[in-house]
This record gives sequence, structure tokens and C-alpha cells, in this order.
Amino acid sequence: MKRIGAGKCFFANSGAEANEGLFKVARKFGHDEGRFEILTATNSFHGRTMAGIAATGQDKVKKGFEPMMPGFRHIPFNDLEAAHNAISPATVAIMIEGVQGEGGVTPATPEYLLGLRALCDEKKLLLLMDGVQCGHYRTGKFQSFQRILENVPGGENFLPDGLAMAKSLGGGFPIGAFWVRAPFADLLGPGTHASTFGGTPLACAVALKILEVIEREKLDDQARKLGGWMKAELERLAKTYPHVVKNVRGLGFMLGFELVEKEKIPTFAASDKTASLQFVNRLHEAGVLTIPAGAQVIRLLPPLNLKPQEAGEGISKIEEVVKSLA
Ligand SMILES: Cc1ncc(COP(=O)(O)O)c(C=O)c1O
Repeated sequence: MKRIGAGKCFFANSGAEANEGLFKVARKFGHDEGRFEILTATNSFHGRTMAGIAATGQDKVKKGFEPMMPGFRHIPFNDLEAAHNAISPATVAIMIEGVQGEGGVTPATPEYLLGLRALCDEKKLLLLMDGVQCGHYRTGKFQSFQRILENVPGGENFLPDGLAMAKSLGGGFPIGAFWVRAPFADLLGPGTHASTFGGTPLACAVALKILEVIEREKLDDQARKLGGWMKAELERLAKTYPHVVKNVRGLGFMLGFELVEKEKIPTFAASDKTASLQFVNRLHEAGVLTIPAGAQVIRLLPPLNLKPQEAGEGISKIEEVVKSLA
């Protein structure tokens, strides 16, 4: 609680389950007024359960599983006016990622976060954040919104009403959690939500140990500094090879670089695979594991204990691949 604020946490087994908990909090919050609709962002990703794919703002995860669970509508990310205009009498919450991961490593702007907070307060909506991928020190702070809003006037008071966590929370061991801010923390009382394996002593002991290691070894600083160095290196590549790398985005150890359109990279143009997939395959051959985000973005999500020498090796391999395509 000291890392975020007064409230309660429910422990689950995965990110998708953590989000499910927040969806249920929102449904409960609006139930007696007949409000149930949750607005989520285009290009968002919120998990693979039925509610998760309905919440996700990408058609590819929904295809073949229709009809979608009702109660979710998508709005363009980082567009406050669109959020404002999308609110209907049925709307009960807005959920966003602080940094969109699968959608292409796109951080929310400080104005968007503060604007959504004010909008949710004004319209009596819950502001829910999916910190499954971008949370738990990945950006150099406990939560991405704390990093995005540092040194921003008014940012120090920002809090969402609910927050989903997983991934780095267990450092590789399955655990998820959702936190709900104090005034809403008892919306899900005993009997309304539960999980057999959620919050087992083993999973919680692992998560506590991970937290201890992160703090003892100052891995948040590491993510910030080394991630900053990697970002600067990727920006150097974008500058040196503008015919291959279009731009670089992200915070800390959550970085993405966008390739130019596939048709503009002669080596990739003929294949039916996306540019990002072909690039990732080449990196795999060179011994670097990365993952695509969409057709053109390569996502770098290194472990929080990445060493400077390993970061250097990774960047050299990326440069080799970029160079071979230039
Ligand atoms: C932002 C976000 N939310 C939710 C999930 C789902 O988490 P899990 O795979 O643990 O269910 C993911 C997984 O990639 C994610 O990136």
C-alpha cells in the first residue's frame, strides 16, 4: 500500500484474471444504476479470457470467438476529447494501459492521464489501469503512471481507482493481483469473488522475494538508467539508418522501435510475414529474444536484472540486423 495508496489487493494467478477482477469491480459499482459499460483503448491488450478479448482493442484477438461479451467499447488512445464524447449513460469505467504494450509500446501522455482522472471524477466513472505489462518497476518506477507523471504539476496526487498487476510481480512465477482504491475496495465483498490458487503462500513468498531483490539491487534505477541508455542507442540507429528504423518509443525497460513500412525494406518486401516478425526472426537467429508489437514495432522487454554488458551485446546484434537491411 505504501507504494501506491490506501486500498485493498486481491491476489490471482495471471494478468487476465487480475483484469477480470477489475471488470467485476466496475460492474458492481454501476449495477444498481444500470451502468455496466467499460471504455477501453484502440490497440489495447487486456488478456485472453472472454472479457479480456472483448476489452482488448484489437480485432485479431476477437476473430473466431464472436459473439463478444457485451459491455466494452473502444476509444482512440491519448485522445481526451474522444473519451469525453464516448461516455454514455451506461458507462461505468475507463480502462487503459499506462504504456500500451502489445499495441506498439505507446506511453500515455501526462495530459491524458490527468485529463482522464478529472473526467472520471466529473462523470462518476472508475479509472482502471492495466499495469500487467508496464507495471512493477519496468518503466523505472513502481507503476508507469508514476514515471509518466513525475515532475508534472498535479501528477503527485494522481491515482487510478483500480490497478491490475502480474508479469514482473512474480518474476516468472505465476501470480497476478488487482488493487482497488479505498472508497471502492469493498465493492467485491466475501462471496463475490474468489480463486482457489490465487494468493497461495508459495506465490506470495516468491512475489515478496522478487520485491526484496528489486529494492535491494535497485533494479528500478537500473531499468531507468540502462533503459535510457538503450533508448538513446536505438535513437542513434534510427538517425543512422532512417531507411530501416522509423522511430523509438518507451520508458525504462519497456522499449519499442518502429520499422519503416515493409515495402520500403527490399529484403522483407516479398515475404507475406510482417516486417516486425521477419526482424524478430533474424534477431532470434542472432541470439536475441524479442517480440513484435503489431506489423512494424519490435518490443524490448528485458529482465529487470539485465547487465550493462548484456544490454550492449543486445544493441550490437540489433545494429547488425538493421545494418544488413539498410
Ligand atoms: C497489458 C496486458 N494485460 C493483460 C495481459 C494478460 O496477462 P496474462 O497473460 O498473465 O493473463 C497481458 C499479457 O501480455 C498484457 O500485456
